[in-house]
This record gives sequence, C-alpha cells and structure tokens, in this order.
Amino acid sequence: MTDTVLKRKAVRLDPRLAWFGDVRRLLSPMAGVTDRPFREICRRYGADMGFCEFASAAGLTYGGEATWALVDTEGEAGRVGIQIFGSDPEHMMAATRLLNERRMDVLDINFGCPAKKVVKKCGGSALLADLPLLERIVQAVVAEARVPVTAKIRTGWDEDSVNYREVGLLLQEAGMGWVTMHGRTRAQKYKGEANWDRIAALVETLDIPVVGNGDVVDGESYRRMVEHTGCHAVMIGRGAIGNPWLFGQMRAVDEGRPVPTVDFREMCLTTIDHLLGEVALRGEPQGSYVVRKHIARCFKGYPGAAVLRRRLYATTVAQEMVGILEQAAAAGDPRYDEAVETGGDHHEQN
Ligand SMILES: Cc1cc2nc3c(=O)[nH]c(=O)nc-3n(C[C@H](O)[C@H](O)[C@H](O)COP(=O)(O)O)c2cc1C
Repeated sequence: MTDTVLKRKAVRLDPRLAWFGDVRRLLSPMAGVTDRPFREICRRYGADMGFCEFASAAGLTYGGEATWALVDTEGEAGRVGIQIFGSDPEHMMAATRLLNERRMDVLDINFGCPAKKVVKKCGGSALLADLPLLERIVQAVVAEARVPVTAKIRTGWDEDSVNYREVGLLLQEAGMGWVTMHGRTRAQKYKGEANWDRIAALVETLDIPVVGNGDVVDGESYRRMVEHTGCHAVMIGRGAIGNPWLFGQMRAVDEGRPVPTVDFREMCLTTIDHLLGEVALRGEPQGSYVVRKHIARCFKGYPGAAVLRRRLYATTVAQEMVGILEQAAAAGDPRYDEAVETGGDHHEQN
C-alpha cells in the first residue's frame, strides 16, 4: 500500500480488494452524469475509479434496454463499479446474477437515494429505516455476486433516526468490501452541509474502509475532509460536473505537490472529447444536451464565459460546437468570443 502525505486510518481489506489499498479518489455514481464517456474523462484526469449511474434491479431483471445501457462497461479500461437499487431481495439477487456477466470491479448497493420515486417503493435511503429488509437485500446480493459488494449510505433517514453506526456495523458484518457515506440524512436531501464529524465517527467505528462523500469541490476541501475524518478515500459527485480536473488536483494534494490550475485550452479540448464521446454513444442532439450540464459549470469565472456558453447553447449540432470550442482553444482566451460577437477583433487590438 503506497502512502500519501495525508494520514488515514489503517483498514482491513478483503483480499480480493488488495488493489483498493491505493485507491483514494472515486467518481460517484450520478444518474444522468456518470456515463461511460464521463467516467473515462475523469479517470484520465486522476480518478482511480468511476461508478456507473444507478440501475434499478427490477429494470435489469425485466431486461429493460435503457436500464441495461446504464451499466455498459464492456471493454472499459480502468476500475469501474456498478450500482443497483431496489427493495425486493429476489430482484436484487436476480439482477446480481445477470450482472455477473458484466465487467465490474465491485457491485455497489444504493442505500442513499432520497428521490421520491425510489423511496416510495422502499428503495435507496428508505432502507435505512428498515434494517431487517436492508440486511436481507445485502445477504441476497453477497450470496450471488462474483465480485466484492460495497454499499453507499446516508447518515440516516432523518435527524431523529441517525443510525449510520448501526448500519455500518451491519454492513461490515454482512461482508461489504467498503462503505461509502454521504454525510447527510435522507431528509436533508442536498440541503445544508454534509456532516463530516459523522464520517469521522464511522471511520472510527469500522475496520473496513470508509469512503467519505459530500461537499468536496477542490484540492483544499479534499485535504480537509481526509484530515477531518481519516477516511480511506473520497468520492466526488457534483464537484466533478464540468470539472474532471478536480481529480488531478486531489492527486497533487495526495502527493504533496502544489495543486495545478486548469488551463482554459485544456477545458475546451476536453469538452470536445466529451462531446464527441456522448454523440458517439447517444447521437445528436441528445449527446449535446448531456454535455450542456458540464459546459454550464466548466468555464465559470473566465471573462467572456457567459458569451462562450451562449454560443455553445445556441446549437446542438456537435460539429458546430466543436468549431466554437476549437476557436476558443486556439485563442486561448474566452474573450475571443466577445470579439466575435461584437464584430471587433480582440486579438488584433492587443
Ligand atoms: C445529478 C445527481 C445524480 C445522482 N445519482 C446518484 C446515483 O445514481 N447513485 C448514488 O448513490 N448517488 C447519486 N447521487 C448522489 C452523489 O453520488 C453524492 O452522494 C452526492 O451528490 C453528495 O456528494 P457531492 O457533494 O460530492 O455531490 C447523485 C447526485 C446528483 C447531484
């Protein structure tokens, strides 16, 4: 196990997860975001592992094409996890059996999703309020999976029923390879701050690795979370949208190097790669729509970013978007676009 400059608690690893000893930076499962092109980009910039969007066990069992597309990992290079959710142990077991054919390093169970359509069927975070059922689900998946099983939880259903220690111990006992915890209750959804004290308490409680999750958005917050909690690794959700370079910044923190800044040209070229990947996967215009979420956040803070975004949003034709991004990359400065838009020539004037 190579150590980083940040101190972390020593953990007990499932022998099949020896590789996880060096894993520090994970891309969260995010529905509508962490498809294969984005996972690949995040790994390129330093994510040790990426997760597919969560998939319904019932959907997989019934053979839904759209659900199966979410877990397409065939031939994917690098570490990848698949995540399933559901409330019926039979479905969870059947889905696991089917997924055994897929390429994956771990199979994760979602006990954190706060969405109404998931919890109303007692999936996701609803299971934090029904531990006997949660336990049956975990046992069903572990009995069937050919890869190590992991779980992702929240701190509890609400402030009156915070039970992450009890849940964590149950999951450890049931053979989970690691537990990821988002430091909010279900009731909080995404409001307020993630409670890192509770992540620290879970790290203290368990022998297996705890992956901390919630509100890490840059190298500095990564350092603070690890220092505060001693967690083995950190999982990044929203912070990676439009900012896959975050993983490189986290890596620099681990290696004791100065945190690199992101080059504007690289932002443009990466966005082009991402766009072409999405269009190859989904065609037009869906591919361009998916990349818009990233564009919305990517160029923030640059002068002229609003104009660049507006030009990119004005079309869904990938080749036009590529042209705009190539121009911006060549100019090396998004103010170029202001010049185009106003009919002036910013660069000749300088
Ligand atoms: C758009 C979106 C989709 C998400 N989808 C999933 C999912 O499929 N499975 C899951 O376990 N968590 C999902 N989450 C939660 C994140 O994985 C993560 O736990 C949460 O955003 C907190 O981490 P962050 O502060 O780094 O974003 C999603 C979050 C967002 C914003």
